[in-house]
Amino acid sequence: MPTKTGLAQSIYIPFQTIFIIFLITIVIVILQSIYAATHTAKISISTDDEVESLLSIQIRQNHYLIQPDNVTHRGKTFETTIQCRGPLYNQTCLFKNLYYFNRKFVIFTVNGRQLPDCRVYTNAFNLFEFTPQKRIFKTYEHLEKFVLALSHMHIIPSTTVYFGQYWMHNIGHALFDGLYPAFVALMRFAPRHLQPFRILASIEPCDLCWSEDVYSRFAGLGLIKQYVLNHVSKSKWFMFDEVIIGSGKFCQRCVQPHLQLPGGVELDASRLFRNRMYRQMGLIPPLPRQKSSSERRTPRDILQAYVIHNKRFTNIEQKQIHKAIQEINTYTNDYLSKTSDETLVEPEWPLINVTYFYYGSVSAQIINGKQLKQTSTDSRSPVYELTHTKFASQLRIIRQMDIHITGPGTGQMYQTFLPDGSVTVNLGGLRSKVLKNVSGFYTSFLEQHVTSGTPYIKGLYYPINKRLRGIKKDEVLRLIRRAGQIILNGFTLPVNPWGNLAPDGQLFVEMCTRDQKFCSSVTNRTIDKKYACLDFWPEDFVHEQKQWKREGSVRYGSNVSCAFNRLLLHQLREKYQIKL
Ligand SMILES: *[C@@H]1O[C@H](CO)[C@@H](O)[C@H](O)[C@H]1NC(C)=O
Ligand SMILES: *[C@@H]1O[C@H](CO)[C@@H](O)[C@H](O)[C@H]1NC(C)=O
Ligand SMILES: *[C@@H]1O[C@H](CO)[C@@H](O)[C@H](O)[C@H]1NC(C)=O
Ligand SMILES: *[C@@H]1O[C@H](CO)[C@@H](O)[C@H](O)[C@H]1NC(C)=O
Ligand SMILES: *[C@@H]1O[C@H](CO)[C@@H](O)[C@H](O)[C@H]1NC(C)=O
Ligand SMILES: *[C@@H]1O[C@H](CO)[C@@H](O)[C@H](O)[C@H]1NC(C)=O
Repeated sequence: MPTKTGLAQSIYIPFQTIFIIFLITIVIVILQSIYAATHTAKISISTDDEVESLLSIQIRQNHYLIQPDNVTHRGKTFETTIQCRGPLYNQTCLFKNLYYFNRKFVIFTVNGRQLPDCRVYTNAFNLFEFTPQKRIFKTYEHLEKFVLALSHMHIIPSTTVYFGQYWMHNIGHALFDGLYPAFVALMRFAPRHLQPFRILASIEPCDLCWSEDVYSRFAGLGLIKQYVLNHVSKSKWFMFDEVIIGSGKFCQRCVQPHLQLPGGVELDASRLFRNRMYRQMGLIPPLPRQKSSSERRTPRDILQAYVIHNKRFTNIEQKQIHKAIQEINTYTNDYLSKTSDETLVEPEWPLINVTYFYYGSVSAQIINGKQLKQTSTDSRSPVYELTHTKFASQLRIIRQMDIHITGPGTGQMYQTFLPDGSVTVNLGGLRSKVLKNVSGFYTSFLEQHVTSGTPYIKGLYYPINKRLRGIKKDEVLRLIRRAGQIILNGFTLPVNPWGNLAPDGQLFVEMCTRDQKFCSSVTNRTIDKKYACLDFWPEDFVHEQKQWKREGSVRYGSNVSCAFNRLLLHQLREKYQIKL
C-alpha cells in the first residue's frame, strides 16, 4: 500500500521534530524553576523595602489595573477617585479609597491629576462647604509606597455614607435631618441605597439615644461615631473603600419652593426609605396599593385609626378627642353587633376602630432563655437580628394604621411609615403671637412638607381658622369619618402634593412662584443668607410673626426682619381665606 506508507512517512518526520521541541521545552521549564527557586531564596533574605516594592509590583500587575491618564480607574488602586452627581448646590460625591487620619479625611492623589470639584454639604444646619484635605504624590509609585508602608493601615470595607447630625435624642430630627437625607444621597449612586452600607456620623456622645441603633440597623453594616474614629485615628490611618458625602441639602428642614420633603416625590425617596426601614427592622413593608386607596379593601372593612398622643393637646382637648373616639367606636360596635352576615345592611358611616395611642407604651420584644446569653466573645447580643426593637414594635403598629391622627412636631415624623392609601390627619397646634398690646394665637401645622412629600398618603387638616378655638369633638369626628370615606371611596395614588398641604402651605407655594426673591431667601441655603430667614415655617410667615414682622424680631441673637412682598401676602391671605 504505497499510499499508506507514504502517508506514514510524511507523518513520521514532523513527529520527530515535535518530540525534539518538546524535550527542549521541558529543559527550559526545569531551568526556569531552578532560577525561580534561587530567586525566591534571595527574596526571603531581602530587606523590607525590597519586599514592599516587589509586593507593590505584584499587586499592581495582578490585581490592580491602573490607567494613568484617567481619573476614573477601573479596578482598585490606592489612589483616591472621585465621582460627583447632581448640581453643585446639592451635589453628592462618591470617594473611592478615601483616607482618614488624625480627625481628617484625606484624598491621596498624584501630581497632575484632574479631580472634580467635590465641595459638599454634610449637615442640615451647617451651611459651610466641606472638602476633604488633599495629599499629592509625585507619582503613583510614591503614593503606593507610602500606603504600603503604613503598617497600621485599617481598611473600612464596602460603602460608607458620611454626615453630621444634631439632636440624636429626638427621633424626628435623627430620621429626617440626618438619615433620610443620607439615603437620598445614596440613591444618587444606585443601587447602593438598596444594599447594606455603613454610616459614619458626626454626632454628640449620648448614652440614651436609641436613634443610634436605628441608624445602625437601617444601614446594615453599622454606625461609626466620628468622635470615636477621631480618637482612634490620632495614631492610625484608615482607608475607606467608598465614602458617599453630600446630603446636607436634603434635610426635612431644607425648605423647598414646592414645600415638599426633598426627593420625597421627585425621587420616590419617601417610599423607598419606608420600605428599607421596615425590612431592616425585620418587618414586611406595608402592602402596596398602586392607583387607589381602595385597592385591597372592601366597604365593610373596619378601618384602624390611631390618635397619637401629642404634648400640644390640652386636657380639655384630650377630653374632646376621647368623646369623638367613643362616638365612632360605639357606632362601629353597634353596627357589628346588629348586623350578621345574612343581613347585609350597608353602614351609613365607614366602620372605624379608633385607639388613643402612646408610642411610649410599646416595648421591645423580649425573649428569654439560657442559650440566648451573650458569650464573652460575642461582639453583640446573639439575638440582635432575631427580636424586634422598641422602634420595630412601633412600626408594627404603624403598619396597620389606616388613619393616623396627631398634632404637629415629632408626632408627625412617623407618617412616612404609613401604608399606601392611608390618611394622616393633622390636628394642628397654636403658636402665641408676640405683640405689644395684643395677645393671641395662630394655627400651626408644622411638618406639612412631610405630608406633601409622601405621595402614598392623603393629608387632612383641622380647619385653619376654627383651630383657634381649640380642638372640638365634632370637628375630630368629622375629620376621622371623612378620612374613612375617602379611603373607601378610593382616592387616587399618587396623591397631588399641593393638595396635601394646609391653606397656609398652599399660600406659601404660590407666594414662592410670585415673589422669587423672597423664595430664594427662604429656600436657597447658602452661607451668605440670613439664617433666620432660612429657618422658615409657613405659619409664622403667613401671620407675619417672628422674623416676618415688619419691625423684625430677635432671632439667633440679632434683630432680623426678612424681606418679602407684604401686599402680595395680604392678597393671598384673602384668597386662601386665612384669618389673622
Ligand atoms: C476614561 O474613562 C472613560 C470611561 O471609562 C473613557 O470613556 C475615556 O475614554 C477614558 N479616558 C482616557 C483618557 O483614557
Ligand atoms: C438638587 O438641586 C436641584 C437644583 O437646585 C433641584 O432641582 C433638586 O430638586 C435638588 N435635589 C433634591 C433631591 O433636593
Ligand atoms: C380595635 O383596635 C384594637 C387595638 O387598638 C384592637 O385590639 C382591636 O382588635 C380592634 N378591634 C377591631 C374590631 O378591629
Ligand atoms: C395696639 O396699640 C395700637 C397703638 O398703640 C393701636 O393702634 C391698636 O389698635 C392696638 N391694637 C389692639 C388690637 O388693641
Ligand atoms: C443661591 O444663592 C447663591 C449664593 O447667593 C447664588 O449664587 C445662586 O445663584 C442661588 N441659586 C438660586 C437657584 O437662586
Ligand atoms: C429691630 O430693629 C428695628 C429698627 O431697625 C426696631 O424698630 C425694632 O424695635 C427692633 N426690634 C427689636 C425686637 O429689637
